[in-house]
Amino acid sequence: MKLFLDTAILEDIVRRYETGLIAGITTNPTLVRKSGVDYHGFIATCCESFPDLESVSVEVSGETAEEMIEEAGKYLPLGSAVTIKVPLNEEGLIACKRLRDQGVKVNVTLCFATDQAILTGIADATYISPFVGRMDDNLFGGISLIRNISKIYKAHGVKTQILSASIRDSASVAQSFLNGADVCTIPPSVFDKMYTNVLTDSGLNIFNEDFKQIK
Ligand code: E4P
Repeated sequence: MKLFLDTAILEDIVRRYETGLIAGITTNPTLVRKSGVDYHGFIATCCESFPDLESVSVEVSGETAEEMIEEAGKYLPLGSAVTIKVPLNEEGLIACKRLRDQGVKVNVTLCFATDQAILTGIADATYISPFVGRMDDNLFGGISLIRNISKIYKAHGVKTQILSASIRDSASVAQSFLNGADVCTIPPSVFDKMYTNVLTDSGLNIFNEDFKQIK
């Protein structure tokens, strides 16, 4: 059970990495465009500044497997955590298989169906990213997709880790893990929210008051 942060903002990572509770980072072109960072520089800094991360996902562009693999080559020297993120289409899966044959970590992204997940498992991806929030936005159950992929992978001994993505709230983190996710990648705000519970706060206030009365 692992948590990754889904962000391209360095400052979002620093304090949360220091908690020791974060195992990886995922990025995508939209997050990178919004943050305004230089993508290569950002990934290089993550690999250097956060050495305990098991995975830093870099989404590659390109329409053919060859183009994706060529772009992957620019990031792989940055560190062993670099995980090449390819789209869940024919060319992306060809790239996945070839990269995996070379021992490269691969995250196959934009999964919306179990048949896609089957191909991804056969391509031996390191991670598959089903987009829970975007499924829910379109009235398909994102969590049931996680559950079904998990059942298929368990039944067939598939090693690909299910990386629940597009998560919008902390309840979806719990639901993802309950239904077989291995990892959740979450926005920093959702990570912060996971600590917070009104009953913990009020209970702690009472205990702190009682501490003052103890002789
Ligand atoms: C995952 O790797 C993606 O970066 C991300 O979770 C997409 O989330 P969104 O649907 O909120 O854009």
